[in-house]
Amino acid sequence: MTSAERSVRVLASPAALDELEIQDHLVVVVDVLRACTAIAHALDAGARSVIPVETVEEATELAGRLGRSSAVLAGERRSLRIDGFDLGNSPGEFVPARVGQKTVVLTTSNGTRTFKRASKAKECVAGAIVNRSAVVRRAGRFERTTIVCAGDSGGFSYEDFLGAGLLVEAIVREASGPIRLHDGARAAREVAAGIADLPGALRGTDHGRELEALGFGEDLGLAASLDRFERVPALRDGGLTAEEP
Ligand code: MLT
Repeated sequence: MTSAERSVRVLASPAALDELEIQDHLVVVVDVLRACTAIAHALDAGARSVIPVETVEEATELAGRLGRSSAVLAGERRSLRIDGFDLGNSPGEFVPARVGQKTVVLTTSNGTRTFKRASKAKECVAGAIVNRSAVVRRAGRFERTTIVCAGDSGGFSYEDFLGAGLLVEAIVREASGPIRLHDGARAAREVAAGIADLPGALRGTDHGRELEALGFGEDLGLAASLDRFERVPALRDGGLTAEEP
């Protein structure tokens, strides 16, 4: 890295990514509830890679092509497991017995679509509360970091903005020199600084309430588990694999 000033941006929704020149950026996709948390769990459970895809049809076709003995088909629509899929999108479902040594093909409502928008980035990783410090260490290699909240159907998601703020807060804390925080990053950092109870904060969000009502309350505790994982899910040739920070 050169000695130019580092900068960090937070985009509240993926659409804003289309307007940015991101060729020399690290892009961190944040989907706390639940895609990026589930991806971190899957890789920790021994999945070879997680391939994020946009549509149910694309996922089914790809898993078929890879062969159902080596691929696991996972994902949600309206938070529920898709008919015919092996797994939904609850982080706790991604255990070694289900995903060990397998390729997980994952399609979710917002999170997995966001990776496609980030494909022009110098590098793209999946960020969540569960791997915050690892992602922050990776960000230390880049002059420009853009954190993009997967959001909800193009709109705002508090939990992703909070997750982004936790990343910004730790990037600033760990930095050895000055960092330019753009407006979204400043705002996200301020939101994160005001939160003492992470599980409680996730429970209060629109999506957290919806997940609890559907019986996925356990997912919120898993998503709030700060720094549980030490590796970074990095996108290489269309698949996310676990790397040292
Ligand atoms: C998404 O991509 O929108 C989410 O991860 C939704 C969820 O699994 O609840």
